[in-house]
Amino acid sequence: MIILGIETSCDETGVAIYNGKENKILAENIYSQVHKHLKYGGVVPELASRDHITKLLPLISRTIKQSRLEIKDIDGIAFTAGPGLRGPLLVGATLAQSLALGWGKPCIGVNHMEAHLLINLLENPPPDFPFITLLISGGHCLLIEAKDIGEYKILGQTKDDAVGEAFDKVAKLLGLNYPGGPEIEKIAKFGNPYAFKLPRPMAKGENLDFSFSGLKTAVFYITREQGEPVKRRFKADLAASFQLAVSDILVWKSRKALLENGLNQLVIGGGVASNAFIRKKLDEELDGIDLYFPNLSRCTDNGAMVAVAGYYRFKDPGYKNSLFKVKPRWELDKV
Ligand code: KG4
Ligand code: ZN
Repeated sequence: MIILGIETSCDETGVAIYNGKENKILAENIYSQVHKHLKYGGVVPELASRDHITKLLPLISRTIKQSRLEIKDIDGIAFTAGPGLRGPLLVGATLAQSLALGWGKPCIGVNHMEAHLLINLLENPPPDFPFITLLISGGHCLLIEAKDIGEYKILGQTKDDAVGEAFDKVAKLLGLNYPGGPEIEKIAKFGNPYAFKLPRPMAKGENLDFSFSGLKTAVFYITREQGEPVKRRFKADLAASFQLAVSDILVWKSRKALLENGLNQLVIGGGVASNAFIRKKLDEELDGIDLYFPNLSRCTDNGAMVAVAGYYRFKDPGYKNSLFKVKPRWELDKV
């Protein structure tokens, strides 16, 4: 089964073609709008929608060409139906459904967070259900027990900011560009992670929920005390200390989830999973646990994850989400 995947939930236009039988991505393209939103310090939904409108169709044509397939070879179209920004989601949904109608193909809407999870099935060997999943993105921080495709139990989630959101806000406090995650990672390489003693909110608590707003507030007070001009050394030390605090929280909560559920595989997904420091920390600290990370380019939003999720959802006769409908809020345990 060959699936065309379309991702437009935020500010990346992602398109990919996946051969499910061979478990192989045949072609993929991502167009990032980051430069368009840079001066606003975050994603402007209306601008994002308009950019998806102009970029999506040419990107689909190019991807099909690169795959060396013809339209007749495509068996189905998958698009991100949510969660995400309503306008951008509608662009992807509308185009996917129009193409499906025109080409006479089935079309399916998939959950963006499920796609971040299922992209790990591209690994060789892939993780075996059941496993624990840690999803760390700009909009979410989730610990899930994945029993099977579509059988997800939310074990814990953030009570306030998502991890990526915390990276973005802290980057802003340090005068770094949007998106903040890669900027913090870059500058943190020159800093001392033990320079500032930052809190690890809720990290050692009873449950598996997260909280990052206190950590962000601690960074705010430290930057305010420092005043202007902010030295590069100070920024690097604070970025490194913040990154270490986040890593500790993710390690402790993941370990607890694995132990409590008697599982030894941790599957990680979402934009923050591209952070090399966090990857290394999880790897070093979770001894005896099999870790699965997506390929670096497929941690942040991309079309490949939607194509893979679409493939598994097309195979599931109980799954119905082919209506022209988007869901800006869509919990993973309601998929
Ligand atoms: O998964 P994603 O592309 O979009 C959502 O579904 O939200 O994640 C985007 C988030 C942003 O907050 C961005 O700052 C963060 O992922 N991010 C990173 C890194 N690369 C992207 N955070 C930390 N380190 C990185 N290298
Ligand atoms: Zn995402």
